[in-house]
Amino acid sequence: MANNDKENMLKKIISHAKEYGFVFPSSEIYDGLGAVYDYGQNGVGLKNNIKEYWWKSMVQLHENIVGIDAAIFMHPTTWKASGHVDAFNDPLIDNKDSKKRYRADVLIEEHITKIEQKIKKEIAKAAKRFGDSFDENQFRSTNPRVLQYQENIDAINQRFKTGMANEDFADLKALIEELGIADPVSGSKNWTDVRQFNLMFATELGSVAEGASKIYLRPETAQGIFVNFLNVQKTGRMKIPFGIAQIGKAFRNEIIARQFIFRMREFEQMEMQFFVKPGEELTWYESWKERRLEWHLALGLDPANFRFHDHLNLAHYANAACDIEFNFPMGFKELEGIHSRTDFDLKAHEEYSGKKLQFFDPRENKRYVPYVIETSIGLDRMFLAVLSSTYTEEVLEDGSERTVLKLPPVLAPVKVAILPLVNKDGLPEKSREILDLLKYDFNCQYDFKDAIGRRYRRQDAIGTPLCVTVDSQTMVDDTVTLRHRDSMEQERVAVAALHAKIGGLVTFSKTFQRLHV
Ligand code: GAP
Repeated sequence: MANNDKENMLKKIISHAKEYGFVFPSSEIYDGLGAVYDYGQNGVGLKNNIKEYWWKSMVQLHENIVGIDAAIFMHPTTWKASGHVDAFNDPLIDNKDSKKRYRADVLIEEHITKIEQKIKKEIAKAAKRFGDSFDENQFRSTNPRVLQYQENIDAINQRFKTGMANEDFADLKALIEELGIADPVSGSKNWTDVRQFNLMFATELGSVAEGASKIYLRPETAQGIFVNFLNVQKTGRMKIPFGIAQIGKAFRNEIIARQFIFRMREFEQMEMQFFVKPGEELTWYESWKERRLEWHLALGLDPANFRFHDHLNLAHYANAACDIEFNFPMGFKELEGIHSRTDFDLKAHEEYSGKKLQFFDPRENKRYVPYVIETSIGLDRMFLAVLSSTYTEEVLEDGSERTVLKLPPVLAPVKVAILPLVNKDGLPEKSREILDLLKYDFNCQYDFKDAIGRRYRRQDAIGTPLCVTVDSQTMVDDTVTLRHRDSMEQERVAVAALHAKIGGLVTFSKTFQRLHV
């Protein structure tokens, strides 16, 4: 997709999400709050279903994974031990004229992307000129202009990495100025110095009179799992290998607030820490990479939209790490991280708390600090991945148009709509009887307003997989029309058979059976 089309697609998705009660800007009547969003009546349904899919696939399907729900506030030393107080920073820079704030690293990366685009243009031109005989690798390694661009990129990258590693912010600013990087909004090149900015939100616990202490809103849920490692291991009599899963809010004072719910200041994470014997971590890392991709694909989402990005520059505590990237409307970007975090976190908490966080292995008669494989996915990013990849505009055979969310039925907020064809002749009463049969197990919606075609369109727009239409024939033979969202096919089904039929299509069992657990 060309850049313009991608931007348009994101705009369409944002406006559809708002129009149909999925996502609203937070406190919109006061003009909203940057990078904070509220989930509406349909959004919360989709979000809860994604959570349920993740939670059950972790906790219900694995005998050796249990869940917890730790508090958002944690003892402030937690964040010293985890490294967040000292190192959870982004380098920021302000433009003195526009007063806009940017991440210095992002400005430089965007500059590099522009040079890469020039290379791509040269390649596209040459490919057109040479046709089938074109060899891209050879062209890249011999064309003088492309070589010059690549040399330029390598030099910028090298200086950028050294600047970041040494926290040499004066040189990062000098680099921005030498490259002639201008404020993307105003075009001004009048920059402040680059300075470090910690992404954690701080607040105070207790009143000033009592001697308030500074605490943080957690920037990740993982630390709530690490500090409870021993509580869970002992009370659950867990044996290595075992996992602890958690879903909860996390907060980051992101400098760049763009791209809708992709990068938020308040968001939700679904994280699982899997504790293993030292030395076995890389085997488990590979296994979790495979299992997490399988989890996404079991939903029936297009495999072409997923790819792994293996990290080459590892954080000092990791010995392997990758992202599962998703093809969002903005291009391929991180959806989930899988990290082999060694024993870094548990050891750091041992050191700062003075408490042992170890496992006694009875088979080996020895005590050790387990190694950890972490799987960490942003719930809101998963929501955007599902929404953006299932949003479809279709022109039908009769020339009319429909917008349909082809959501995996298991995730759809409304599973079935019950629609009396006309609002008389006993059809509303019969429809409500059917609603009563189904509502205990499925989220249903009853709708009698407008022509049936318009009611189908409304359900298509929120991704309802099934519509039950009650008509005069229902009153005679107790059958209804079951309309399928994607194919728009209709079949006649006995009311007595409805529950089982719907259940087979919208409950998680079949999706779970696709997972190798
Ligand atoms: N415990 C590891 C951790 O927090 P991370 O890569 O910083 O790792 C994990 O975050 C996931 O959380 C990301 O893959 C992404 O899906 C989600 N995430 C991170 N920052 C986010 C933000 N500002 N808004 C929405 N989701 C975010």
